[in-house]
Amino acid sequence: DGADVEAHFAAVIAADQKIEPRDWMPEAYRKGLVRQIAQHAHSEIIGMQPEGNWLTRAPSLARKAILLAKVQDEAGHGLYLYAAAETLGVQRDELYRMLLSGRQKYSSIFNYPTVTWADVGAIGWLVDGAAIVNQVPLCRCSYGPYARAMIRICKEESFHQRQGFDILYTLARGTDEQRAMAQDAVDRWWYPSLAMFGPPDAESTHSARSMAWKIKRFSNDELRQKFVDMTVQQAGVLGLTLPDDALAYDAGSGHWRYTAPDFAELAEVIAGNGPCNRQRIDHRRRAYDDGAWVRESAAAYAAKRAREAVP
Ligand code: ACO
Repeated sequence: DGADVEAHFAAVIAADQKIEPRDWMPEAYRKGLVRQIAQHAHSEIIGMQPEGNWLTRAPSLARKAILLAKVQDEAGHGLYLYAAAETLGVQRDELYRMLLSGRQKYSSIFNYPTVTWADVGAIGWLVDGAAIVNQVPLCRCSYGPYARAMIRICKEESFHQRQGFDILYTLARGTDEQRAMAQDAVDRWWYPSLAMFGPPDAESTHSARSMAWKIKRFSNDELRQKFVDMTVQQAGVLGLTLPDDALAYDAGSGHWRYTAPDFAELAEVIAGNGPCNRQRIDHRRRAYDDGAWVRESAAAYAAKRAREAVP
């Protein structure tokens, strides 16, 4: 009965085991997961645009092949995540439409423009670096299909982060102009990358509940700090500077002190007023409309097969 299934759910969470699609779950748990997984899937798909912008202008055949593979991986991530969301009783098409109508969100980070080739490096190094810090703990998320999708995604993200680092490493050792281009990209992507982790803990509406349910394992600020600590060291290897004069190692806590991103800007970008919000959604809408004939053909074919199957 009701009390039994609720007790089972609580016991599974307490024992750090997985909730599966067949299991009873509180409605707020299901809705919260749909919200987060859909937002995550949308981010992967929208995230193809800023880098896709450089596919035809990559500086060599090798760089082009690598970038092409990377952008295709993002499409794959979107698809695993939509499939994970579908186990919660929603349809992919319904989620697409929520994205296009603005009822569901995607990550703020993809609303910034990629103006030079070095931006592709900075996205790989910083944005995918931040994504890994955020997503590795999601491999231990309490919802089985989401946790399992994250394992492969994190492996691919690691390759993405390395390719970004490699682009910046090469530019940083190139001509003065190339070095300046790399530094300029890092200057522009640093704070938006810090903002990706979401609002500060005190303003994070979903954190407390998501952590109690073991969907999130760390708070937004904890993950942001982890990212700063990791990235400062890597910047040293690159020979590039992070644009924050306040960065200082605090021996007492073992962490780097840093200047927080501008959360008012994050709120503006989330509200739809970032530099590229309009362009990103318009592009997605066009792709959706252009694909209408494929969906219609597939549906007509499925209907025909179903009719033929009737004895
Ligand atoms: N961009 C857009 N919206 C954001 C962002 C952001 N960077 N950060 C927070 N928000 C939104 C939240 O979705 C929430 O709005 P909603 O209630 O309408 O959904 C609101 O701001 C308040 O934030 P929180 O309560 O802190 O939200 P949450 O607990 O879900 O934490 C986080 C946000 C950390 C992004 C979480 O959802 C998460 O870990 N998601 C999975 C990872 C992901 O989506 N990464 C983006 C893709 S990264 C990549 O593809 C390279």
